Amino acid sequence: MINIILFGPPGSGKGTQAQKMVEKYGLLHISTGDLFRYEMGNNTPLGIKAKQYISKGELVPDEVTIGMLKNKVDANPMVNGYIFDGFPRTETQAIALDEFLKLKGTSITSLLALEVDDEEIVKRILNRGETSGRTDDRDESIIRNRIEVYSQETAPIFDYYALKDKSIKIAGIGGIDEIFERISTILDTFVSA
Ligand code: C5P
Ligand code: MG
Repeated sequence: MINIILFGPPGSGKGTQAQKMVEKYGLLHISTGDLFRYEMGNNTPLGIKAKQYISKGELVPDEVTIGMLKNKVDANPMVNGYIFDGFPRTETQAIALDEFLKLKGTSITSLLALEVDDEEIVKRILNRGETSGRTDDRDESIIRNRIEVYSQETAPIFDYYALKDKSIKIAGIGGIDEIFERISTILDTFVSA
């Protein structure tokens, strides 16, 4: 199995690149943000709870997010591997993910970190907000809070996997296909390994 954490700040292109990775490598894309939005759209108890946090650009509590992620993986066992997009967002989530995969006899292959600077991110997300229907994409102060939460809580996960020699940086600026080429070059080495 090839299990990839697609890492990077909000608006760094994780969802876009994940789609292309699904097409080329047949991995299952799990976006915790998309899962929350699905629950919110259906007004489920989970969605109602998540909305309290997401509307402010804060993180949903670890136990909620971890439980939802495990359910999604368990519901899709027969795959070549997973692309984790937007998860883990905290070190607690990273530890939980590693333990969970270990129980399944597998592990994270690599963390690929898309690097994009803050001002570019704000521009991209506001632009996406014109069509995404996401209220958290339309308000610059919420976007800046998401970036702040990312640097405080999420960015340290890069180092967590770097200690395991699994973290790789990828320049997230340029055309979509150009960035995908960079990702492919790395994934191809795992496929042929
Ligand atoms: O990943 P994405 O940017 O789509 O996530 C949207 C929002 O969902 C985040 O800003 C955060 O409020 C919430 N989220 C979370 N924990 C995660 C993933 C997303 O709290 N692991
Ligand atoms: Mg996304």
